[in-house]
Amino acid sequence: MNDAVAASATTLRQRLDGRAPKVAVLLGSGWGPLAQQVQDAVDVPYADLPAFPSLGQGVGGHVGLLRAGRLGAVDVVVLAGRQHAYETGQPDGMKGAIRTLAAVGVQVLVQTNAAGSLAPELRPGELMLMSDHLNVVQRSPLVGETGDHRFVDMSNAYCLRLRAQAQAAAQAAGTPLCEGVYAWVLGPQFETPAEIRMLRALGAQAVGMSTVPETIVARHAGLRVLALSLITNMAAGLSTETLSHAHTLATAHAASERAVRTLAAVLQALEI
Ligand code: HPA
Repeated sequence: MNDAVAASATTLRQRLDGRAPKVAVLLGSGWGPLAQQVQDAVDVPYADLPAFPSLGQGVGGHVGLLRAGRLGAVDVVVLAGRQHAYETGQPDGMKGAIRTLAAVGVQVLVQTNAAGSLAPELRPGELMLMSDHLNVVQRSPLVGETGDHRFVDMSNAYCLRLRAQAQAAAQAAGTPLCEGVYAWVLGPQFETPAEIRMLRALGAQAVGMSTVPETIVARHAGLRVLALSLITNMAAGLSTETLSHAHTLATAHAASERAVRTLAAVLQALEI
């Protein structure tokens, strides 16, 4: 454990004040309102935790705030704001944050994101449970690590058991989930139609600019991972719409009520 992670873990343990969350939720675009449902909450700005990224202005309302509390009967810690690889060129922006969570006892990382759809039947506003990913960027947050431990098995990157529990909970909440493969692209530009045809040929159902580096760090830290994509648009070439960040955010916000309701149901059903 490096010094920044150790210091962050000490601070966070103090602020948690006896809370012992086993589940952490990383909120992407459109998923932010989940934080408002957390009860008995304590807030810790990322700025107080040296291993966490400084997000500056952030993107589209991401704030850089950790909130710990309860969702129903479940202790959770919610992270509002992530550093993307397209901001720095580096894929390890959330490494210290995830290692801090592991150090304070978190066992499951639930990731959320906004993504474009490559599948005609997967429409804007719908949710996709990530069954797997394609690291198209072929960068790793583990470059520079030493020891055999760095050769992480990624064959169950998105825990099959947690996915089954999530499916059952979403079904019971009236919002059944489809599953698919998420392709990580660096961005920040959107893809060309040719790139989207390539990603479809490779077996992706969704495309986005986040999540995969955090999954790699989490698996290396021994966490299990579950991830949900909120589809905000059909990917380039699959509709006549012009892609823009503003459009992505607008769709994410419009669909966020149902997404957050589903996520809250899933979180309360997970057996850790
Ligand atoms: N491409 C990449 N990232 C995205 C998209 C997209 O179409 N939509 C939301 N995030």
